[in-house]
Amino acid sequence: MAVRRLAAEQPESFAFTAENLAWAKKVIDRYPAGRQASAVIPLLWRAQEQHDGWVCEPAIRYIAEMLDMPHIRVLEVATFYTMFQLQPVGKKAHIQVCGTTPCQLRGAGDLIKICQSRIAKHMHEISEDGNFSWEEVECLGACVNAPMVQIFKDTYEDLTEETFNKLLDDIEAGNPVTPGPQNGRRFAMAAGGQTSLTEIKDDTVGVLPQPVVIDGSEPASHHFTGDAINTGGKDYDGVPTPAEDAVAKVKAAHAAKIAAANSAAAQEAEAKARAPEAKAENAARPKTEDRAEVEVARSGAASDEQEPKLLSAPDGGKADDLKQLKGVGPALEKTLNELGIYHFAQIAEWSAKEIAWVDSRLKFKGRIERDGWIDQSKILAAGGETEFSKRVAAGEVPSSKNEE
Ligand code: FES
Repeated sequence: MAVRRLAAEQPESFAFTAENLAWAKKVIDRYPAGRQASAVIPLLWRAQEQHDGWVCEPAIRYIAEMLDMPHIRVLEVATFYTMFQLQPVGKKAHIQVCGTTPCQLRGAGDLIKICQSRIAKHMHEISEDGNFSWEEVECLGACVNAPMVQIFKDTYEDLTEETFNKLLDDIEAGNPVTPGPQNGRRFAMAAGGQTSLTEIKDDTVGVLPQPVVIDGSEPASHHFTGDAINTGGKDYDGVPTPAEDAVAKVKAAHAAKIAAANSAAAQEAEAKARAPEAKAENAARPKTEDRAEVEVARSGAASDEQEPKLLSAPDGGKADDLKQLKGVGPALEKTLNELGIYHFAQIAEWSAKEIAWVDSRLKFKGRIERDGWIDQSKILAAGGETEFSKRVAAGEVPSSKNEE
């Protein structure tokens, strides 16, 4: 980027018009006392608009005094930002070509060659007809639509040699030109079209850039003032334009969608974060069947049940081998023992209500009747054998299989 210096030739003086002065006072009033320096950029911009598209040295002094700032501070701002022109520019358009890497890789060099051949060989020189000037600047923040140029407040993007030449032709002829991508792309959408958020209704039609005419009939750089879309920002009078309203509505709708999505994501994240805790609670809680058994045991609500005769320990200190009953393996035998059931003789005497009481405390219901524990127990309690107990004695039935 070239060194930015004030023009060698300067006007004698500068002062805002009455209209611009009233506007400037309104802008300054937005800031607290002692902070009026915050208004320096809008005031410099308005001075540039009033002074044929460039900021002269008397304007810098005028604004410094108005804002009670040292002159050097205002000069620093004016020379730092390439949005401020420090010497006369073309009457119709001053073209700022982005020459930073992404734009260079996408053809900025070709755009500069066109400027050199059609406008002037060197930056900041004005074309012979006085209508155009150009300069190379650093990144203008539209890299995704490289290469691009800025003309006053607007950007023209996705340029090719052909579309850039046409843009210059149209400005020269006074034809309307439309800011934004010049290849039909919508804003910075993927070049091949929309690839995400396809379920969202496209409500951006009303805020697409609108055509403008750049014909030099208004003060240079003043063409787009008041049009929030074409300026890419707010007008400085603080009154929202219809276009600003449209942008605000779209932004609010998108913000609501994002808030809803964020809220759902937050709930999901909270549920995920609580998952280990919930799992531990579940593990600590008895399983459904166990819970039912516990509840029944606690309440004694099942009136068709009756507790059978239970023992605190096996008679004679030796329990029967309950695994000789069909359907009873080591685990079930342990459960029966824990309930106080150790002997075939106890089981042989169970009534229907007593069977129901025991059954309700087992994991697999109906097993007592299905496997015929009562009949088997009567035989075994009398010292006899069943077909099944013979197979157990012969080692034909693995004890673990007996509980399947
Ligand atoms: S590199 Fe050109 S706009 Fe960023």
